[in-house]
Amino acid sequence: MALPPGFIDELRTRITLSDVVGRKVVWDRRKSNPAKGDWWAPCPFHQEKTPSFHVDDRKGFYYCFGCQAKGDAIGFVTEIENLPFMEAVERLAGEAGMEVPRHDGVRGARAREARDTHARLHDVMEQAVRLFQLALRGGSGDAARDYLAGRGLADATLKRFEIGFAPDSRTHQTAHFQEKGVLEDAIAAGLAIRPDDGGAPFDRFRNRVMFPIRDARGRCIAFGARALSPEARAKYLNSPETPVFSKGRALYNHAPAREAAARAGTVVVAEGYMDVIALAQAGFAHAVAPLGTAVTAEQLQLLWRMADEPVIALDGDEAGARAANRLVDLALPLLAPGKSLRFCILPEGQDPDDLIRAGGAAVMGRALEGARPLIEQLWLRETAAPLDTPERRAALDQRLRAALGSIADASVRNHYAAEIRTRRQALYRRPDRPGRQEARGARWQAAGAGGFRPWRGRGR
Ligand code: UTP
Ligand code: MN
Repeated sequence: MALPPGFIDELRTRITLSDVVGRKVVWDRRKSNPAKGDWWAPCPFHQEKTPSFHVDDRKGFYYCFGCQAKGDAIGFVTEIENLPFMEAVERLAGEAGMEVPRHDGVRGARAREARDTHARLHDVMEQAVRLFQLALRGGSGDAARDYLAGRGLADATLKRFEIGFAPDSRTHQTAHFQEKGVLEDAIAAGLAIRPDDGGAPFDRFRNRVMFPIRDARGRCIAFGARALSPEARAKYLNSPETPVFSKGRALYNHAPAREAAARAGTVVVAEGYMDVIALAQAGFAHAVAPLGTAVTAEQLQLLWRMADEPVIALDGDEAGARAANRLVDLALPLLAPGKSLRFCILPEGQDPDDLIRAGGAAVMGRALEGARPLIEQLWLRETAAPLDTPERRAALDQRLRAALGSIADASVRNHYAAEIRTRRQALYRRPDRPGRQEARGARWQAAGAGGFRPWRGRGR
């Protein structure tokens, strides 16, 4: 199970040890010096109250002055998670965006084969990117160019996002791939379709504007395709799942947005390709979109590697509200200290593309700044129904307890509990009618203070 020389070193340099250790310990703020990569905490390997566990990010090693535990990131994960060495390496490599090569017998051969397949599929996808771009500039691309110009996309934007066009033909791409001898790869990549009845393979994408989708390393893995014709079967058609494309694990505009997010300090999550493109054109380069499905847990983890509090920009209609609620429920169990979401609910019926076109970048910027925290989104959702009877108020408590119970991180859960308690008291204290409200409010408040201890008896 030999790893190539240098792999472990590369992994160590890509990983910040304090990120790995920080999930398992509570840093001592006074003793630590983050600017120097110098961290102290009570040791996770033995019982103690004083911080004698030291992490040195520059060296990538930890040492406990109490129990003499020591090692690097891999050692830490093997110890604390009780994982075999290779599994710890794989886990960390996954986080660092590195692929673990295998050289072990049959599995190694298979992995090599898979790598070759991937390389060939990426290659055929790159050819397609160029074909589509050429077609957009050519004669058959007139209508598509007009359409894109009509949607306000500048030439520079078309280039930046490598936007192209699949002509209204069954063989435009397929003929090219056949000639190059890569038709099988094109079929495997989802660009061409071989009919079951043994007929000739044909182009999957026809008469559509093409948006290349690239992975975190910039390799083309799929296409999003928007119909030009309003009569088309589907407005958007995406590449099928292939060996290089798994839609729940990819994000549109991933790599450029990751870079921009480092500067912007946040990342915006929109619903569609056109939203991401309009946002970028308006100066918000730190935007991504899922690929035609609801955001998955895997995508959420990718987002949290770009920024602590991704901003979800949603259309203010019913579908947008449903998407927001789904995301709240998806995020709660995955919350970690510092990691959350914000929700930017746009005016009804407007997506970021519409909003920017109507009001410009300034309006979009203000909307993003006004994004509400996850706790607020949760609170608004749970308190939307009337609370005018004891049963309804009890049902609210039940919903809040369920939400709290779904938070896995103990510290985050406790802080949510505290905040919910405060909000709940304020809710019942608020006089909704003048008059004898104060006495009633006081009674409810008393009930609130005494009756709601969501964390009681919830051991983990
Ligand atoms: P929307 O229907 O909100 O479209 O789909 P949009 O992004 O505003 O598109 P325009 O402005 O009309 O061009 C949002 C996303 O949902 C997926 C696509 O990923 C799209 O970007 N989608 C939508 C599909 O996969 N298939 C569809 O038929 C429609
Ligand atoms: Mn739109």
